[in-house]
Amino acid sequence: MATTIKEHLETIDNDLAALILKISSIANTISDELPYRRGKADTKNVFGELQLVADKWADQFIIEELRKLGLVKTVVSEEQPDIVPLNDSGTFNITLDPLDGSSNIESNNLVGTIIGIYKEDLPTQGKHQVAAMYILYGPVATLVYTAQNGVHEFLYTKEGFVLRGENMKLPEPGKLYGIGGLRKDWLPAFRQYIEQLEAEGYKLRYGGSFVGDFNQILHYGGIFAYPALIEKPNGKLRLLVESNTMSFIVKQAGGASTTGKSSILDVVPESITQRVPTYIGNKELIEKLEKIF
Ligand code: AHG
Ligand code: MN
Ligand code: MN
Repeated sequence: MATTIKEHLETIDNDLAALILKISSIANTISDELPYRRGKADTKNVFGELQLVADKWADQFIIEELRKLGLVKTVVSEEQPDIVPLNDSGTFNITLDPLDGSSNIESNNLVGTIIGIYKEDLPTQGKHQVAAMYILYGPVATLVYTAQNGVHEFLYTKEGFVLRGENMKLPEPGKLYGIGGLRKDWLPAFRQYIEQLEAEGYKLRYGGSFVGDFNQILHYGGIFAYPALIEKPNGKLRLLVESNTMSFIVKQAGGASTTGKSSILDVVPESITQRVPTYIGNKELIEKLEKIF
């Protein structure tokens, strides 16, 4: 019999296990509901991006379900302009990208949910996470989590989420690269770095959802970046709700992430909406990259 996520969580702190288990059941519902939550919402989020029905619905649904759980004090969400208070007695603070890659909904390509879990008040450095996870609503939905106990992957089946891979490590050497933003807008040094990887035989795989693109790096190794652009030196990805979460996971999987200069997990946030140039993948590739800037 396959190990269920509930069984797998038995070795970690009870409250944290309850929180991750609750998020897994929220993900079941999101996976089931996505076919019925389509179209544009005609509103914009704090980043000026047009929201979809699915973005807003997933945001509300996750926040309300977490409120009922009672263990969460506050949430920082990509779809909310301010920190959302939930339960004063809660011990966890959550960062949330309810639906990542939502521009992929129209074409039915990959989307996901990204969640960072902290005990410290937000905003704080990503290194203070106690757990981090994402759900990929792919051909089969998968859930990846770390509670500082390695990185583990689960498949959504009729029996719920069951263990697929334990203590995952990025394969060495990596095979893939995926980069956001237009090549003409990349910094020249970065363009050269990527040309070198291409010459070494790294293959391009880019899907336009951080969850999907990072998930490939976790399975095949390599590098994903939403880099500093000439006109946008901080790139696109959001430090709190996107980059820190994946950075925490990649470190547990033996990889690394950087702003180009130093670890993303060490960045001291100045606001909840801060963006950060994001380079994430095999440690050796990240170390090499830090030398070019
Ligand atoms: P979101 O859908 O949560 O707004 O995030 C989109 C992000 C991220 O998932 C992805 O890496 C990047 O935007 C893609 O941007 P481009 O469309 O510019 O490639
Ligand atoms: Mn996103
Ligand atoms: Mn999103």
